[in-house]
Amino acid sequence: MLKLGVNIDHVATLREARYRGLGFGEPDPAAAAKICQDAGAHGITAHLREDRRHIQDRDLGALRRVARRLNLEMANAREIVSIVLKARPDIVCIVPERRAEVTTEGGLDVAAAETALAETRKRMNDAGIEASLFIAPDEKQIDAAARVGVQFVELHTGAFAGEFHSSGDKPATPGAELERLVAGARQAHALGLRVNAGHGLNYDNLPLLHRVPHLVELNIGHSIVSRSVSVGMGTAVREMLRAMEGYQG
Ligand code: PXP
Repeated sequence: MLKLGVNIDHVATLREARYRGLGFGEPDPAAAAKICQDAGAHGITAHLREDRRHIQDRDLGALRRVARRLNLEMANAREIVSIVLKARPDIVCIVPERRAEVTTEGGLDVAAAETALAETRKRMNDAGIEASLFIAPDEKQIDAAARVGVQFVELHTGAFAGEFHSSGDKPATPGAELERLVAGARQAHALGLRVNAGHGLNYDNLPLLHRVPHLVELNIGHSIVSRSVSVGMGTAVREMLRAMEGYQG
């Protein structure tokens, strides 16, 4: 069964828009995480960014207590690594981070940072935490991820989402970016990696993603949090789970 991890960063984005630096305020990401799980989400994803623009250090303890499966996205930076080791998530997903970006824009260049990534991967695994790398569905990056020894890769679906949107949100035939995801998932699976996917996934493009094999979990944030403004978080999660039903793997 394809699993859903809800990225609740944007719940914290809303709080920080009003209460930045004050250490309190609503909405509470941990309360939102509980609603997501009660609606059927399998896990919770959050990203403690170096600039702390949404999730704050104090959120981590509450999220750890609430989340059935906690996936922390993180930059491979010394300060963040030590905070994450103390927070004890179930899994980390190492992502590239640039302060100027609105959200995580591209995948990691694993091939260029293999040694540093392998070191963090080992520290996480030694602490009982699984590790994943957020990468484009690129042959070279997938090979490098396997060498780093991570348990998972998360394939970046942003280009696929962009392609879907530019074809009028109703593409007649699978585009090149979808084909890249299919090939990337096959390659990663053949190398013994488990395959997650995320970024830019929404209620409209998700049906086409069913064509990508070997997916274990989708990490979805913006579309669910946006939909929750209209219908509430529980309904937004249930609608996404419905869009994921029937995935054949
Ligand atoms: N996966 C990763 C690694 C991400 O960085 C993000 C964005 O924070 C997501 C998934 C979720 O993307 P979106 O908010 O577009 O659903």
